[in-house]
Amino acid sequence: GATTASGRVPIEPQSIDAPLTQSAVFLVLTVGDDPGAVAQVRDVLAGLDELVKTVSFRDLSSALTCTVAIGARVWPALVRRPMPAELHPFRPVRGSTHTAPSTPGDLLFHIRADRRDLCFEFERILLDQLGAAVTVVDETIGFRYFDVRDLLGFVDGTANPVGRELPESTIVGPEDPAGEGGSYVVVQKYTHPIEAWRALSTEQQEAIIGRTKADNIELDDAVSGQKSHKTLNTITDDSGEEVDILRDNMPFGSPASGEFGTYFIGYSRRLWVIERMLERMFIGDPPGLHDRILDFSTALTGSTFFAPSADLLASLDDDPAAADDASATVNDSPDAATDTDAAPAPASAPPPG
Ligand code: HEM
Repeated sequence: GATTASGRVPIEPQSIDAPLTQSAVFLVLTVGDDPGAVAQVRDVLAGLDELVKTVSFRDLSSALTCTVAIGARVWPALVRRPMPAELHPFRPVRGSTHTAPSTPGDLLFHIRADRRDLCFEFERILLDQLGAAVTVVDETIGFRYFDVRDLLGFVDGTANPVGRELPESTIVGPEDPAGEGGSYVVVQKYTHPIEAWRALSTEQQEAIIGRTKADNIELDDAVSGQKSHKTLNTITDDSGEEVDILRDNMPFGSPASGEFGTYFIGYSRRLWVIERMLERMFIGDPPGLHDRILDFSTALTGSTFFAPSADLLASLDDDPAAADDASATVNDSPDAATDTDAAPAPASAPPPG
């Protein structure tokens, strides 16, 4: 894209790799069941890139972005195309001590900017447009805390993939045409009993996380027994290759309310990777030895979504008869191929990919 007067390049829609910002909003909504509500949401989502432009252009240097992700319950009616292969509602994970609950959510808006007011303005217009078609289930306002620290005091996000590894670990490829160009997203809202955490020594905290607190140096993996958060979340595939996810966790809360929180958000090309991490954290590896971070972090929510590619999003309001798969579902009789009424009009076909 062209560089603007501010020297910043506008960020592509649905860029899950958008830069870490000073401020973020995590907005989880449910969609009304009537067809009117679904149609209204579809229209708003198809125009989301325009809305981002409208607000971000007022200060491009603040890097406003919005990624929308769609849950399994509403996908068929809303998208009218096959679901990404792994997409299903968040499955609760029950360990012997801690549980990761599953909570409602049809849409997730991940709004990011370096200015809180731009996030506010974007969310205001977005909710105006969605109107009565949606219900807000959770709105969490995240803020940057010093050098990307969580409220436990640790630098959070260091191990994220960078460069070529970023799209490789987050963007679905040709292995799943229904999800190609998009990403699975899992969110969980955690609160911390901060006094109990502060009562630990720095060494105890570092052993739980698996990194040093002041200078963020990785500690060695435990050879046996209790594993650190870092070690439990190191996952390999069948060929022994390490598989990464992208995390954009943000602190939230306020001292006066006594709420100290971490909003976890993970993007992945493969949903099973995040699910494996949750199992290792909540059930433990070996089972029983759960992630000690959970003794100081309570999961209040848990929802799974899929962030479709920008192309799929922009074509949501196209005539469904023109959608890739629609010709197969309209009529699968041998005559269908020669029925001109059922044939998709080439002019309105969605863009490839
Ligand atoms: C690493 C904090 C929940 C996955 C880390 C690190 C911190 C941290 C401080 C070390 C620095 C880094 O590499 O980013 C937290 C907090 C959480 C939380 C405060 C919530 C209370 C989760 C959850 C998952 C997860 C729910 C996955 C489902 C990871 C991964 C790493 C990591 C993959 C990197 C491991 C590696 O070194 O390869 N987390 N985390 N975290 N966390 Fe979390």
